[in-house]
Amino acid sequence: MNTYIPETELNATPAELLRIGIETANGPVSLACSFSLEDVVIIDIAQQAGIKLGFFALDTGRLNEETYEVADALVERYRLKIDWYFPRHENVEAVERGKGMFSFRESLQNRHECCHIRKVEPLSRALNRLNGWVTGMRREQSVTRNDLKAIERDELNNGIIKINPLISWDEEQLISYTEEHRLPQNRLYSQGFRSIGCAPCTRAVQPNEAARAGRWWWENPEHKECGLHRR
Ligand code: ADX
Ligand code: SF4
Repeated sequence: MNTYIPETELNATPAELLRIGIETANGPVSLACSFSLEDVVIIDIAQQAGIKLGFFALDTGRLNEETYEVADALVERYRLKIDWYFPRHENVEAVERGKGMFSFRESLQNRHECCHIRKVEPLSRALNRLNGWVTGMRREQSVTRNDLKAIERDELNNGIIKINPLISWDEEQLISYTEEHRLPQNRLYSQGFRSIGCAPCTRAVQPNEAARAGRWWWENPEHKECGLHRR
């Protein structure tokens, strides 16, 4: 269980949460960037407020082309330097040779194995050099996230500070901020995607479906986490 940092209140703005979290971390802090609407909004808020953040991204090897396009658009617009992390090639080679290219569809265990190799292990290397990390997670996203805290000590990652500045935002706020500030956005959103991860594990959703219904759509809602945000 992560430790809640109690002095943070949910009614603080994202910029205030970023400042408090960064001050608490007292060392380098980076945004984990998946190029979602959330992450792009955080980048813009930080830039507007003059808040200094690093940026890293986990290239799982299975991302959509449209996601890489957003990465380049952000580099162009904000002159960002993104620290990309790739999975260890021996691990990917072993799974692909032994189990094929879609082993993650066969069982929850195989899915966790793939997410571990392509996301969790690279994440641990990214976090090793940080005192804190920022994510775009929001409470309303899913049953697995409705008890999120704005700022916590991430006990599973060396006790570094974890900041979720958009914790109380809803999807409508995100979309209106994105449109008002004309931020780059993944073209897949206009094709019915509402949450975007790896290409083979993400699909568009119907209007009556939950936002994350298109992530690992063959699994139950309580399993829809990849291990990046274990608590
Ligand atoms: S996931 O755990 O289900 O994949 P989700 O897509 O909701 O996570 O994203 C939540 C947050 O996790 C993002 O806002 C971002 O901070 C971080 N994140 C997810 N995927 C990546 C990635 N590939 N690289 C860096 N950060 C990521
Ligand atoms: Fe593998 Fe799918 Fe997890 Fe991406 S989301 S790491 S492809 S199981």
